[in-house]
Amino acid sequence: MNIQDSVSVVTGGASGLGAGVVKGLTERGGRVVILDLPGSAGADAAASLPGQVRFVGVDVTKPEQVLSAVDEAAAAWGRIDALVSCAGISSGERMLTRSGALHSLEHFRAHIEVNLIGLFDVLRRVVAHLNRNEPNSEGERGVVVNLGSIAGIEGQVGQMSYSSSKGGVIGLTLPLARDLGSRGIRVVTICPGIMDTPILSSLTPDQIEGIVAGNVFPKRLGQPADVADLVCHVFANCYLNGAVIRLDAGMRLNF
Ligand SMILES: NC(=O)c1ccc[n+]([C@@H]2O[C@H](COP(=O)([O-])OP(=O)(O)OC[C@H]3O[C@@H](n4cnc5c(N)ncnc54)[C@H](O)[C@@H]3O)[C@@H](O)[C@H]2O)c1
Repeated sequence: MNIQDSVSVVTGGASGLGAGVVKGLTERGGRVVILDLPGSAGADAAASLPGQVRFVGVDVTKPEQVLSAVDEAAAAWGRIDALVSCAGISSGERMLTRSGALHSLEHFRAHIEVNLIGLFDVLRRVVAHLNRNEPNSEGERGVVVNLGSIAGIEGQVGQMSYSSSKGGVIGLTLPLARDLGSRGIRVVTICPGIMDTPILSSLTPDQIEGIVAGNVFPKRLGQPADVADLVCHVFANCYLNGAVIRLDAGMRLNF
């Protein structure tokens, strides 16, 4: 799929990796509709590039909001060619605290609601629009890119909620690609390692140095541009489908 003049929905596009994807797509001539929480910086991003970026406020856990937000996104430029799902939450909780208190059900439910069910709901609504596109010369009607995480493969201590949600995203990748193959819609999940976004804002430089020491190479945090470059490659490379791709400098989470 050509990025030039394409229209992408980017959930979570107001911050971190999603904002990097918005930058990467617009720099290559694409247009983007950011779907993010109403109080996020999405409106500012749209105001700074009005010809290429629009913003629709939505909580992805609210199905009625998702339905109207995706319809609004499709109306912005008359179609949707791609979805990049970056909206997500992440926090830790152990099964048992030192005092013996149990992991809360609310914490687990919240991660599944946002990271898995919310992602699935946006994607099914977007697929309805991709399916209406005229296929290009390859027979392609659209591309779906999900943000998983290497924690969905090798979750750390205290990451049961987050890892379960991302494991679900990894799990849906191949069956979804198989469901949509006959429609010419591709599905790929990118699993970043440790990336430099507001999620890491509470860490000290020493803690960050300790984390990147676990990278094979390069020994630095991943940047939103690293994710954006891979998303753009997935758009362009029609042969990539049903794949789960690690983007982690060789890091394995062993803690
Ligand atoms: N940063 C990392 O190290 C890392 C590593 C692997 C995977 N990821 C994944 O990449 C994605 C982006 O992470 P990030 O680091 O950029 O985080 P971030 O917190 O900077 O951005 C997440 C965005 O999602 C939005 N969001 C949260 N809940 C929402 C909801 N209910 N409805 C709509 N929007 C909502 C937030 O407003 C925010 O703009 C997440 O799915 C995250 O799990 C991040």
